[in-house]
Amino acid sequence: QTTAAPLIPESPTYDKLRKAAAGCQACPLWRTGTQTVFGESEGQPRPGPRVMLVGEQPGDQEDRAGRPFVGPSGRLLDEALEAAGIDRAQVYVTNTVKHFKWTGQGPRRIHAKPTTTEIRACLPWLEAEIRVFRPDVLVCLGATAAQALLGKAFRVTQSRGQPLASEWARVVVATVHPSSILRAPDPRAKEAALEAFVDDLRQVARIIH
Ligand code: URA
Ligand code: SF4
Repeated sequence: QTTAAPLIPESPTYDKLRKAAAGCQACPLWRTGTQTVFGESEGQPRPGPRVMLVGEQPGDQEDRAGRPFVGPSGRLLDEALEAAGIDRAQVYVTNTVKHFKWTGQGPRRIHAKPTTTEIRACLPWLEAEIRVFRPDVLVCLGATAAQALLGKAFRVTQSRGQPLASEWARVVVATVHPSSILRAPDPRAKEAALEAFVDDLRQVARIIH
């Protein structure tokens, strides 16, 4: 059984977790990814980030930089957070799976969805991050994060933007993944999708303000 569970340090801190995750080879994705992309918070706020955002997995640019949400999805996320009135310094950003999974040959690396086995293998890192930071609000960006934390039956389309009770945080809110907005078929659809995403993040802003 592949799982990162045995690698989780005893009485974990952020620094201990990050260091341990850097050497993780618990599932095959350590070979496709260049490096472990662990969660981070830019502003290093005290006593801790009140909002934790959870994506799917690092993309091409995140894989190169070693930092989550620094590519196109991340820029859109920053824009939406600002529109919703959420301070980036209050936010910790991470992913369900910590290594980039891709297919293709040559320089173009095409994002590939992580399997249930890979998600399950990597989940102990996310669980430990949540325990260390104890965010007030946990935001699942897309179905991968939502189903990993809320169960396979969870449907983002049905429950997006609603404050949900869960074991993970005082409140959990699920919404779409920013990449789904980037994939919108035309500018009007994109604008509507962005508006709906910002609306969901406004629910989060209401909870923390
Ligand atoms: N998409 C994600 O889910 N996470 C990232 O870090 C970047 C893109
Ligand atoms: Fe470890 Fe997660 Fe990377 Fe798999 S994806 S090797 S479980 S850090």
